[in-house]
Amino acid sequence: MAIENKIKELMEMREKARLGGGEQRIESQHKKGKYTARERIDLLLDEGSFEEFDMFVSHRCIDFGLKGKDFLSDGVVTGYGTIDGRLVYIFSQDFTVFGGSLSEMYAQKICKVMDKAMKVGAPIIGINDSGGARIQEGVKSLGGYADIFQRNIMSSGVIPQISAIFGPCAGGAVYSPALTDFTIMSKGTSYMFVTGPKVVKTVTGETVDEENLGGASVHARKSGVTHFVAEDEQEGILLIRKLLTYLPQNNLEDPPLTSCDDPIDRLEQSLNEIIPEDANKPYDVREVIHAVVDYAEFLEVQRQYSPNIVVGFAKFNGMSVGIVANQPNYLAGVLDSNASRKAARFVRFCDAFNIPIVTLVDVPGFLPGTAQEYGGIIIHGAKLLFAYGEATVPKITIILRKAYGGAYDVMSSKHLRGDINYAWPGAEIAVMGPRGAIEVLHAKELKEISDEQERVNFIVEKEEEYRSKFANPFVAAKYGYIDDVIEPRNTRFRIIRALQMLSTKKDTNPPKKHSNMPL
Ligand code: HXC
Repeated sequence: MAIENKIKELMEMREKARLGGGEQRIESQHKKGKYTARERIDLLLDEGSFEEFDMFVSHRCIDFGLKGKDFLSDGVVTGYGTIDGRLVYIFSQDFTVFGGSLSEMYAQKICKVMDKAMKVGAPIIGINDSGGARIQEGVKSLGGYADIFQRNIMSSGVIPQISAIFGPCAGGAVYSPALTDFTIMSKGTSYMFVTGPKVVKTVTGETVDEENLGGASVHARKSGVTHFVAEDEQEGILLIRKLLTYLPQNNLEDPPLTSCDDPIDRLEQSLNEIIPEDANKPYDVREVIHAVVDYAEFLEVQRQYSPNIVVGFAKFNGMSVGIVANQPNYLAGVLDSNASRKAARFVRFCDAFNIPIVTLVDVPGFLPGTAQEYGGIIIHGAKLLFAYGEATVPKITIILRKAYGGAYDVMSSKHLRGDINYAWPGAEIAVMGPRGAIEVLHAKELKEISDEQERVNFIVEKEEEYRSKFANPFVAAKYGYIDDVIEPRNTRFRIIRALQMLSTKKDTNPPKKHSNMPL
């Protein structure tokens, strides 16, 4: 055959592969408001940068009528390309081929790009839209999943792993996204669950639809499984691109430094007035974050889950940081089990990828009560303590207002190797809040006061005394636990200076196989 004919044949095969499961199935994918696997790649990567692997792979199964029934690419598109000029590896599941179900060869294709990403040291992005294990292939398909899981585990903390869920993701298949660093779900078109509604009905008798069992909103608000919810796939893709601007390529590199025109010494007068006079009045800590970071840009992670703590990425003079902040606007910013787990995971991600952590503290303590104790707040609170204590990246802490009890220790205190610990002048740092302290310290006297007015006066007087003695930043500053008490409007400048000073920080933990963190 002449070379022209061979090239023609190649082009025809490519064309066939690009059609996946065929025009009709592509149309039905579009009708559901979904893009195809290849369209998603085109949207995500820099134009013309995609290089595909394994386009001509097909399955080897001959059982259950699959003999001769195969499609080039076998239901997943894999390869590499760039995002803002930076290398990424990608796999995108193709629902038009056997419902995107995973076969032995399909798993091998994914494993190949995962291995390459690890060798080269670049992020891997997986776009999930699949009916799960290819039923006809049985255990080969299950094995394929486990091969992927093992690679997810080995890649954890080495290269960033991002999962987009743009369709079904069910059964054991959910564990690959769960093992990755960030999950993004599209509203209304994606779901994740270990068992679907039919099995739920059979086993537990519960009637529930897909959306209410494992839709984006459920995983954003209730389970915390997803880190981001996108209105549609396009927004989800933009989110992935944005997220990567904060991340290094791998754990041996620093995050990208971007140029910044936002003045580093910009004074934010509003911060001098943001804390209400009444210590029990809330305010939105996001306003503080927006006021201090570059261009007020903050990429919040798990926004809807446990809103009493806010976590996310921002830049200071072009340097990436992870921000952790108690949110007085929700449950007074108290630390509960979910908030502790949410922040702990985020802190560990930042630490693994050399992203400094800026912690903004306004916390009345850990949430008391049987619900929290029975739910294991001791173990969950310990996760956050562990994460901060273990982290060796630069750690900058600003106490905005309250830092009470164990929560003072936990929130990146000096004692957990905090590098720079500042407090605003109105900060209250003590073992517990004034009211609780008075109830304990003066229990006997309070019992003896029968007149209600007299009792109130006594409490007010003692609270004042306690507040002036302990509930201020100067006792902690006296012991060097606070490096300086700073004027709120200078916060941006002080953080940037600290980050610059800490940019060559080196700290290590003792050699060990791994820690035994309280899971
Ligand atoms: C083989 C599958 C398939 C699968 C879908 N298809 N899932 N083929 N194995 N797992 C095929 C369908 O037969 C159909 O082929 C085509 O894909 C499109 O599927 P539809 O059902 O027509 O699409 P839709 O109505 O949109 O429903 C999508 C779906 C449904 C909800 C995903 O297909 C479904 O429930 N599939 C089974 C899901 C499941 O239980 N998977 C196993 C999970 S357990 P034709 O040719 O008829 O159009 C698991 C274990 C993993 O994955 C363990 C890892 C440790």
